[in-house]
Amino acid sequence: MTHSKTTLNGDFGIQLNNITCDDLADPDFQSKAYELWASHGGLLVVRGKDLSELSPEALVAWSNVFGAVEKENLAAREDKMVKGFPILRIGNIKDETGKRLASFAKSVQLESDDDVQYNPETRKPVWHTDSTFRKFPPIGSVFHCKTAPPEGSETLFADTRSAYADLDKASKQKLEPLEAVCSLAHHDKKISLYSPDFPVLTPEQRAANPPNRVPVVLKHPVTGSLALYGLNSSTCALLPKGQNLSGEQMDVCDLEGIEDDSVLIWRDLLPYVTGPKYTVRWRWQAGDVVVWDNRCTIHSATGYDSERYSREMWRLTLLDRTETKAVA
Ligand SMILES: [Fe+2]
Repeated sequence: MTHSKTTLNGDFGIQLNNITCDDLADPDFQSKAYELWASHGGLLVVRGKDLSELSPEALVAWSNVFGAVEKENLAAREDKMVKGFPILRIGNIKDETGKRLASFAKSVQLESDDDVQYNPETRKPVWHTDSTFRKFPPIGSVFHCKTAPPEGSETLFADTRSAYADLDKASKQKLEPLEAVCSLAHHDKKISLYSPDFPVLTPEQRAANPPNRVPVVLKHPVTGSLALYGLNSSTCALLPKGQNLSGEQMDVCDLEGIEDDSVLIWRDLLPYVTGPKYTVRWRWQAGDVVVWDNRCTIHSATGYDSERYSREMWRLTLLDRTETKAVA
């Protein structure tokens, strides 16, 4: 069957159709797919009936086309992994012992396309870049759908490269010198405020995990394009390079989970960045494999009726090959 291509929103996002497991293992197909991924803002979907049968080995090999598959940091989640592979299982599925695998924090189910756009009052959907508090933040992720509910559980993506490119000069000049201060302690404290069982860092853990700083305008190392970057629940301040929060201000961020007001510079852009011009609402079918680039997109989960429907997703995390030896 011949392949076809569908663009998802202008030059953001590309979907390849009628794809088989053999295609994913073909080096020519892999290099074309990589090019398409890079030239469509870092969002690529492959779809095909055959892909429901994709093996963990084949998924890892496919993921390695786009980055180095992370394996080291996943040890603590062994019970939620596909046995023997660096693949995290997500959804309302159960393991062999009947224990339910934890879903991530409950997300709101969309009622209409309007709900894709960030609402400053509810702070939903929870649009973010993954794990910028880490010294080497992941460059991307791969999601493979094993079982999808007939409705809900879409994943949302926004093109932070085009959103940045379309800003006026004054806004770009304001953003360009800034760095996002991203703190794991702040992230965990913030989550514990609405999920009281969520553990916060001990003083020792906090000392061992100092905040990481990332540019608010990131230059993509492959494409060279600039994109808005560094906003998630760990982001506690936006500061010019070389400037720091005082110890007291950092304590407020980390121990009380309160963001510095400077984060509003980014947050106030979110309704714009997540408007219809820059977003894709991805509706999953079993077999779909999506690869996204964290360096030029942001994303959000959405909810579904987990009492009625089953969902199982396989997730891999991609690291920069130049920064890590963690290749599966
Ligand atoms: Fe995420």
